[in-house]
Parts: sequence; C-alpha cells; structure tokens
Amino acid sequence: MKGVVLAGGLGTRLYPLTRVTNKHLLPVFDKPMIYYPIQTLVEAGITDIMVVTGGNHAGEFLKLLGNGKEFGLRHINYTYQEGEGGIAQALSLAEFFVAGESVCVILGDNIMEDSIRPSIEAFRKQGQGARILLKEVSDPERFGVAILEGPRVVRIEEKPQYPQSKFAVTGIYFYDPNVFDIVRALKPSGRGELEITDVNNAYIDRGVMSYDVVAGWWTDAGTFESLHRANDLVAQKRTVGAPV
Ligand code: G1P
Repeated sequence: MKGVVLAGGLGTRLYPLTRVTNKHLLPVFDKPMIYYPIQTLVEAGITDIMVVTGGNHAGEFLKLLGNGKEFGLRHINYTYQEGEGGIAQALSLAEFFVAGESVCVILGDNIMEDSIRPSIEAFRKQGQGARILLKEVSDPERFGVAILEGPRVVRIEEKPQYPQSKFAVTGIYFYDPNVFDIVRALKPSGRGELEITDVNNAYIDRGVMSYDVVAGWWTDAGTFESLHRANDLVAQKRTVGAPV
C-alpha cells in the first residue's frame, strides 16, 4: 500500500502564522506538524510515501524531510500542486506514484494518538472500495460529517450548518485504485475545489465504503483552536512518557 500526505494549501485560517510559511511546517510541540502524519504512516508499515505540497514554500519540505532518514526511510517522493484545486485535486497528482495499488491518504494537519494498523488490515480484507476513519467530536460543523445507518455510512456532508451526527470524517482515507477515475469525474464545488467528500460520496453510492471509529484522540490543526489543542495533546502524551 502506498501512502500520500497532502500538505498544500495556503492555510489562510492561520494568518498571519502562515503568511511566510506553509501550515504543515508550523510547530506542534517539539516537531513540525508534517512529522506526525508521516510518522502515522511509517509506524503502520507504510514506507512508500509521497508528499504533495504547493505554494511558495515547497522547497522547505525537501530541506526539512530530505529522504526521510529521521523516519527510518530511504526515500520520500514529492510532487507540487499548483494553485488551490482542493484535496481531491492534490490527490490526483499522486496517480503516477500510486501506480494501480491501493493508497492511504492522510491530511498533513491530522494528528492522532492511535495506530492506523488495524484499519489497514481491515481494508486489506475488504479488498476493494474505500474506508474512512471517523471520530465523535463536539463541533462536527467544522468537518465532513458522516450520516450512519447501523454499520453503513449513507452520506457525508461537508461542513453542514446543521450536522446530522457527531461523527467527523477524519483526514485519513483508504482507497482502491479506482479513486483516480472518481476524481477525474468530479465537478468543482461551490468554492471552486475538487472535494474529498465528493470522492467519498461516490464510493458510498457504489456501495463499497466502510468505516472505523477512532478510539484515541484525533485532531486537525488548521485553526488557532485546533493547533493549540494539537500542541496540548502531543505535549500531554510526551509528559506521560510515551513516544509520539
Ligand atoms: C478537510 C475535509 C473534511 C475533513 C477534514 C479533516 O477539511 O474537507 O471533510 O473532515 O479535512 O481534517 P479542511 O480542514 O481542509 O477544511
């Protein structure tokens, strides 16, 4: 399974912190933000990784991560997203790299406590389609929100004003190789981007979407509040002595 870390975007919700750097290079406790999603992949045994970045600071990722020695990797792949085409458009840039395998996609600002290994195993057994990780949150309107009927996700709504559940769709997704055809068929959303939620709804429509609920803590880090929370959670984990 290949791994893709999406680390583009302008991070405008964090201005002025992101005026002169990329969001994913900002510190979360004692490491740059992007270390955490890379670590999540590597810890789960995914070592064939591509970082998709963009904007004015792409070169700094290469300087920071090099070939991934700090993560025990011998190589990291990079590609560059021009403009603001959205998460699904960023993913489409990895098609050549993924080369017909299945892929774990992780957003560069998603930080979690648990290993994703059990979900990788479950997705392998599933054999096709897609799998998403959900987390119950108190502010679902900030996220993609999953509407569940028993064991099935029946719909995902992107940042709904009136969320129909408390289950946020985290930024960790497993896809079969059909994902790139699905992205090609997408139309830009109201904000002019190709949305990952539309990709997930396409899998739901095909009846091949599964999910796991994350047990440990999970957070994004794209707003002042969530960046602060990410720092707190990682710091707490550190002070109880467990490696992050
Ligand atoms: C993105 C997705 C959203 C998801 C979130 C997870 O939102 O569009 O569905 O719940 O990541 O971090 P963004 O934070 O890019 O607005």
